[in-house]
Amino acid sequence: MAVIPVDIAGAPYEVRIGTGLLASLAEQCSGRLRKRRVPVITDAQVHKAWGGVVEQALHEGGHEAVWRILPPGEASKNWEQLAATVDWLLAEEVERGDHVLALGGGVIGDLTGFAAAILKRGCKFIQLPTTLLAQVDSSVGGKTAINTPAGKNLVGAFHQPSLVLADLAALDTLPERELKAGYAEVVKYGLLGDADFFAWCQAHGAAMLAGDAALREYAVAHSVAAKARIVKEDEKETLGLRALLNLGHTFGHALEAQTGFSSRLLHGEGVALGMVLAARFSARRGLMTQDSAECIARHFAEVGMASEISALGLNCNGQALVQHMLHDKKMDAGTLPFVLLKSIGEAFLAKDVDLAEVARFLDGELAG
Ligand code: NAD
Ligand code: GLY
Repeated sequence: MAVIPVDIAGAPYEVRIGTGLLASLAEQCSGRLRKRRVPVITDAQVHKAWGGVVEQALHEGGHEAVWRILPPGEASKNWEQLAATVDWLLAEEVERGDHVLALGGGVIGDLTGFAAAILKRGCKFIQLPTTLLAQVDSSVGGKTAINTPAGKNLVGAFHQPSLVLADLAALDTLPERELKAGYAEVVKYGLLGDADFFAWCQAHGAAMLAGDAALREYAVAHSVAAKARIVKEDEKETLGLRALLNLGHTFGHALEAQTGFSSRLLHGEGVALGMVLAARFSARRGLMTQDSAECIARHFAEVGMASEISALGLNCNGQALVQHMLHDKKMDAGTLPFVLLKSIGEAFLAKDVDLAEVARFLDGELAG
């Protein structure tokens, strides 16, 4: 098992990464579960795959799992499910010192974390991430949120978990498409600050996706360690460092919005395409070489992920995509900061990007 400390001042915690952590859940959580009844929030698909294991593990530790099971998918991250979840936690008489368990992907982690942030002005919670995306990104760092009709993740709070248990066994039941979507966030850590890790992804990414357990542990642990370093320095994203984790997200968000935040394009798939676009746009501005940008596109294609937006059949122009960007929550006094690349492994925040230039660039990319 790998153990990565997240040394946030006032709220430090561990991310444990290994196989079988859900099966030994009570032991892993020892000292944190104060009552017999333990509230667990999950979605129906994860409950089907892992509910029995969690139930049994808690039972062996003298606990009883009490479940709130949401419909799978992004649509559950809304006001109605948040309100109903908070009411349910109140009915369960959860106190501020109690822990709520979030068993699932980023949707469950974000919603549960936000419910925990506002319940009685903040109760504790433990992240049990079951997707690759949640293990390498969303379960770590304390960003919690729901979506509203105005946009994604527009209402939320920073609220750190007390513990993160990333069970690699959970990835065995994850659909391949979801696994690959999560891989985009793994590659992101290489592109934004660690060229050697991108080279590792080129060498081992395909075998990791195919199921090699040691490679999976390395990929998750290395990604979490990178995120922990950033979050420790810039927990609330005020210094321009944590913002680098948004590499590919501004372009990706526009693609997700254009496809209606639907299963046509998963979040991680949008991030992968967005990183290719950020790299090519950086090359167009003379910041990085075109060869390096194409190397990124080639890597996603080699592991069977979409790398060209011309293949999405979007039926829109570049200006339409830019229009979606204007609703991005990163808009700051009329300007939109973009994470661009000087090279593979060196990202920076550009605050002087002309959106008309972005639209022209996207016209070219959409045409293929
Ligand atoms: P998700 O939570 O919707 O999970 C994807 C699908 O996989 C769901 O249908 C789920 O039921 C299923 N699933 C999950 N684990 C499974 C398993 N082990 N076996 C079988 N099926 C399983 O999606 P996600 O990609 O994990 O998360 C996306 C969300 O994360 C978005 O809402 C995004 O905004 C958020 N996010 C948050 C942060 C953050 O820092 N808080 C970072 C990145 C993304
Ligand atoms: N996923 C981006 C962040 O946690 O800041």
